[in-house]
Amino acid sequence: SGLATAAELPSLKKKETYKVGFAQTESNNPWRIAQTESMKAEAAKLGYQFVYTDAAGSAAKQVADVNSMIAQGVDLIFLAPREEKPLIPAVLAAKKAGIPVILLDRSVDPKLATAGKDYVTFIGSDFVEEGKRVAEWLVKNANGKTKIIELEGTTGSSPANDRKKGFDDAIKAAGGFQIVASQSGDFSRDKGRQVAEALLQAHPDANIVYAHNDEMALGAIAALEAAGKKPGKDVLVLSIDGGKEAVKAIADGKIGAVVECNPRFGPIAYKTLKRYAAGDKIEAWVKNTDKFYDTANASAEVGSAY
Ligand code: AHR
Repeated sequence: SGLATAAELPSLKKKETYKVGFAQTESNNPWRIAQTESMKAEAAKLGYQFVYTDAAGSAAKQVADVNSMIAQGVDLIFLAPREEKPLIPAVLAAKKAGIPVILLDRSVDPKLATAGKDYVTFIGSDFVEEGKRVAEWLVKNANGKTKIIELEGTTGSSPANDRKKGFDDAIKAAGGFQIVASQSGDFSRDKGRQVAEALLQAHPDANIVYAHNDEMALGAIAALEAAGKKPGKDVLVLSIDGGKEAVKAIADGKIGAVVECNPRFGPIAYKTLKRYAAGDKIEAWVKNTDKFYDTANASAEVGSAY
């Protein structure tokens, strides 16, 4: 019946080549650029047509971008949803148009859309685990420092929600630490710097900064140095992503540890597309694995970081 069809995921024909869309959320940092490059390069390698849009940090634009891909008749849409709720209409519009969606790196609210029903799968890291791994390093290496400033990612995004949960829960369970302030720096270097500057003024005794990504950590380092404090000595800095600049900052003693968030999605993204077209049952979450950087490996790894 029509109703039964509406509940089903759109299928994908097995073909030699595809026209795929990639709806990127923004491109203001090295992580996003590495992700786009990986998606683009792998499409070129396979001879697929690659339709790319950049929402420039606007969920509303990203919804419009997906609608334009639907109008262009792409075979499948890879979507990196900026926020968990506002991108739901885009996921559902593609489904209604009979175009399968694969979520890349960020997810949507599981109460409003489901893998295997509304979209094919979510490919990405375990953000809760990333936050937890930062906390575990801190518990072992805090050296008496206890007062934490947390710089959160984009409000309403799955990495911000989950990296906060993973870290905060582990820190609470460990005991002895205090999160003196927690505020969004929107995953951006400059906002991270500004927020860190204000929070360091309000909490001059803070001696740990946990940033949800490298960009904000690098912004916080600038704020610390401007305030006459030594990052890595007076204040421990921790982050997630694992870009070259942050890994180098570990080697330079300014960042304590970084949990990688692997941005190289191309190979796994198109492999999953092919599996789907071949009729494989795709798991709800195709998990990426992330490395870990601290002084033990930073110098050796900086060359291979993105
Ligand atoms: O969704 C992954 C996060 O988004 C990365 O940590 C961040 O740098 C990016 O903008």
